[in-house]
Amino acid sequence: MKSEGVWAVVPAAGVGQRMQSDKPKQYLKLENKTVIEQTLSRLASHPRINGIVVAIAKSDNWWSELQLDLGCEFDVAEGGDTRADSVLNALQALKQLVNDDPWVLVHDAARPCLRHSDIDYMLSELSTHPVGGILGIPVNDTVKRSNDDDVILETVERERLWRASTPQMFHLNTLVEALNKAKQQGVTVTDEASAIECCGLEAKMVEGHADNIKITIPKDLALAELFLKQQRGDV
Ligand code: CTP
Ligand code: MG
Repeated sequence: MKSEGVWAVVPAAGVGQRMQSDKPKQYLKLENKTVIEQTLSRLASHPRINGIVVAIAKSDNWWSELQLDLGCEFDVAEGGDTRADSVLNALQALKQLVNDDPWVLVHDAARPCLRHSDIDYMLSELSTHPVGGILGIPVNDTVKRSNDDDVILETVERERLWRASTPQMFHLNTLVEALNKAKQQGVTVTDEASAIECCGLEAKMVEGHADNIKITIPKDLALAELFLKQQRGDV
């Protein structure tokens, strides 16, 4: 089996609580496809991506309804209770498919607007990096910290502050080790870079486009539709 090159791991086992919909947000319609189909086809059509492993919840009734024709290697792993567990399961499945230690791009199923140019930029910035890194967006707003009563306590220096997004690109073995270590230590990690940081490794921040949004609340769907149109030059 082909093992050189880059793989994608797509956690898609969340319930989408904040979306308040009748099905998980990755199965909502975005233009002519579901959100997850948009995301997977963006990854699969990138020339440097060999294959994809997607994590799907055990209780998922929607995944099997899809008719996917991605044209790349593909496997499905079982989702876990947290995003980190889902990613870890997918990485373990990937270990069965490859004999070396490829770069892995972990990318949220809920981010369907990822540009190929952002993948290209990320690969060019990180392919020779000793650890790897993530796509992020610089924080432009003035940032405040409040207490539980919404009383403003301080203005947080926004210099060098970033919003972390995905893909997050690390070597397969490094990532498995880091996520296992975080789990053993009982550290909650909401992204892969947190697990890498936990191990004392230095990941690089790579600037991505702000239209790579994560569909989280209902109004994000319309925004994603607008971004897809904009990327095609339709608006
Ligand atoms: N995810 C996953 N397994 C989980 C939780 C989340 O694979 N146990 C995935 C989601 O499907 C999503 C990505 O991780 O593609 C980012 O998570 P998030 O945006 O938080 O999605 P949900 O957890 O589904 O949404 P919510 O937090 O609103 O419930
Ligand atoms: Mg969540």
